Amino acid sequence: MILPIVAYGDPVLRKEGIDIAADYPGLEKLIDDMFETMYNAHGVGLAAPQIGKAIRLFIVDTSGFAEEGEEDTEGLKDFKKVFINAEILEEDGDDFSFNEGCLSIPDVRGDVDRPERIIIRYFDQDWKEHTETYEGLKARVIQHEYDHIDGILFTDYLSPLRKNMIKKKLKNISKGQIQIGYRMKFPLAK
Ligand code: NI
Repeated sequence: MILPIVAYGDPVLRKEGIDIAADYPGLEKLIDDMFETMYNAHGVGLAAPQIGKAIRLFIVDTSGFAEEGEEDTEGLKDFKKVFINAEILEEDGDDFSFNEGCLSIPDVRGDVDRPERIIIRYFDQDWKEHTETYEGLKARVIQHEYDHIDGILFTDYLSPLRKNMIKKKLKNISKGQIQIGYRMKFPLAK
């Protein structure tokens, strides 16, 4: 089932997510629905707050980043994962800049600097615990989604000037005054 994606301005996007238990009701279906919702919107990641749940759950599938005809040196084509109760233990390496976007903030993009490498501990959908190191674009997508479960959005990192430039656009998104190709829920829609 495709769920509506919560738009910028909804308070749920600002909540710190809580850890969930293995018997969280309907978890398997929720994860399936999140993948369906993400693919429908052509995203590479989706966090639970974006579908209205302030819990520490996010999914990623970077196959959309693997470009036709180009060598998939980072292994992005087969990187599909569920992260439950994740905790980033370490971030290191040089900061690198990447132009980010977000399904909750359509048509807004911005360059964000983040460290190139992370070590993260999480549970997968079978409640197996993992501690893994990621770098490059995989790390980037995880960092962006991980921020969501802490109530942080990529726009928070933009310069004051850039923030000012997109202010009006963000307001319009909250009101639903945008054209988008997927289902959304707008906090200020009349
Ligand atoms: Ni996002």
